[in-house]
Amino acid sequence: MTYLETAAQFYSEAAQTPQVGLCCVQSSPLQLPGLKIPRQMQEMNYGCGTTVHPNELANQPTVLYVGVGGGLEALQFAYFCRRPGAVIAIEPVSAMREAAQRNLELASLENPWFDPSFVEIHPGDAFNLPVDDASVDVVAQNCLFNIFEPADLSRALTEAYRVLKAGGRLQMSDPITTRPIPLTLQQDERLRAMCLSGAISYEEYTQLIINAGFGQIEIRARRPYRLLDKTTYYLAEHILLESLDSVAFKVAIPEDGACIFTGKTAIYTGSESFFDDGAGHILERGVPAAVCDKTAAKLAAFKPEEIIVTNSTWHYHGGGCC
Ligand SMILES: C[S@@+](CC[C@H](N)C(=O)[O-])C[C@H]1O[C@@H](n2cnc3c(N)ncnc32)[C@H](O)[C@@H]1O
Repeated sequence: MTYLETAAQFYSEAAQTPQVGLCCVQSSPLQLPGLKIPRQMQEMNYGCGTTVHPNELANQPTVLYVGVGGGLEALQFAYFCRRPGAVIAIEPVSAMREAAQRNLELASLENPWFDPSFVEIHPGDAFNLPVDDASVDVVAQNCLFNIFEPADLSRALTEAYRVLKAGGRLQMSDPITTRPIPLTLQQDERLRAMCLSGAISYEEYTQLIINAGFGQIEIRARRPYRLLDKTTYYLAEHILLESLDSVAFKVAIPEDGACIFTGKTAIYTGSESFFDDGAGHILERGVPAAVCDKTAAKLAAFKPEEIIVTNSTWHYHGGGCC
């Protein structure tokens, strides 16, 4: 069996015998006015963080959701899209497809606005998405891509890039690791399937997204998620896993490198009313302007005595000067 087959078997069992907290720590799902989440669906919340960002789901986008699980996030996306076929959910495990379909039928009984036709569940996997090139506005996945080995993660990211329209968004939530995970744990296929040992570092994760062609990444949340403690996992040191919510945009990579927004701002403190770096960044005196990490570093090096750069908040939600 390959590790991908082990993962599929693991999720087939998880679909047939749902276990609260089986994979990922149970978090309270995003609540929205008029949205009721059936208990069965909530118990199958096998994700960390969220990929649903309400303030940018206007205009009923078409969403491709990879790895449907119990259907929770597909339902949350449907809340914004509200038309037949708006959410296309891809899932290789038949028992999981059946469970998600059942949960969505239950959701339709509790939510008058929701019709199960809003979410179409199709067989398929992250490496061969059964949709045309440049055909969807959003691709989303929660706690799936971290299971993939790096070469497969690159394939999945390239496939997501293919199906997105120009300007489209890849919305992801995954564990990342703050220290290298020993090979023995990485090779433990069950731990990997449980989102515990496949995580890579923040730097590797963002670089693979850029390598797939995405020109801009925004970090929506980064927080402690799980501890691989040294006693249980026979480690020299504890390993802290974090969960990372990100949105990557299918836009061209600028000549000087991709933009990654982590919540940094630049503040001009000089004697003029504003500062213009001549490269598209205008800072009003005393007003923090959101900047990507690349621009933050350039501005700080350019005028260290006049420009303050604030730390990453890891909660970036748009706006800024570039
Ligand atoms: C950790 S669960 C996350 C489920 C859901 N995103 C959530 O947040 O509850 C991973 C899901 O991806 C599915 N999956 C496993 N291998 C996959 C693959 N190669 N391509 C797409 N989905 C896959 C699993 O069956 C499972 O439904």
